[in-house]
Amino acid sequence: AATAGAPRGAFILFEGVDRSGKSTQAAKLVEALNAQGTRAELWRFPDRKGTVTGKAIDEYLSATAAAVSSSGTGGTEGGKSGAGLSDQAIHMMFSANRWEKSRALLEALQQGVTLVVDRYAYSGVAYTAAKRVPGCGVAWCKAPDTGLPAPDVTLWMALPPGAAAARGGFGGERYEEAGFQEQVRGVFAEVRDSSFVDVDASGSVEEVHQRASC
Ligand code: TMP
Ligand code: MG
Repeated sequence: AATAGAPRGAFILFEGVDRSGKSTQAAKLVEALNAQGTRAELWRFPDRKGTVTGKAIDEYLSATAAAVSSSGTGGTEGGKSGAGLSDQAIHMMFSANRWEKSRALLEALQQGVTLVVDRYAYSGVAYTAAKRVPGCGVAWCKAPDTGLPAPDVTLWMALPPGAAAARGGFGGERYEEAGFQEQVRGVFAEVRDSSFVDVDASGSVEEVHQRASC
């Protein structure tokens, strides 16, 4: 039940390509909000642990390059049923992963908790549409997320092309490849909406934190 009289919490979303600093900045923002007496929680998508879809998504993302090149076959790899999911099926999994958490998300906001969220539906659209699979354009990609709770603000971690890849530290997960990341960035630019606010994500962790928290 909603806490009587409590103002609704804010839904603050971080979006950006891999290695743009979202996770670091989201964690720092939660810390700062709690320190100033605002109840805040860090959420992230995909939610790999507290969901039915999380395990398949985790298997899909950690599958090897060999599995990537055979994606679309719907086959399996090493008994990990998530690894060989088609592009369409994994897209639905990512969306379902958000829907699995949508009720809890709304409840937390109603109880006055501010949610700082690391990736959401914009990532869902950007990563799938960037694959340029015939029939899976932006409109198709957006459809399963229609009706999800919407963020109050989307902090876009803005970096010049190539800067995220230059940071290194791509961990070998699927999608962590410079060329593909540039395609992802292009779709983000196409699907950004009025919730987007650009945060200059270059410079030190502390510098970016100051920009992200004003
Ligand atoms: P992470 O690096 O933030 O843990 O996210 C894992 C990967 O999943 C990342 O490359 C972006 C991708 N992704 C999608 O493809 N679709 C989605 O809906 C989400 C939330 C993430
Ligand atoms: Mg990643």
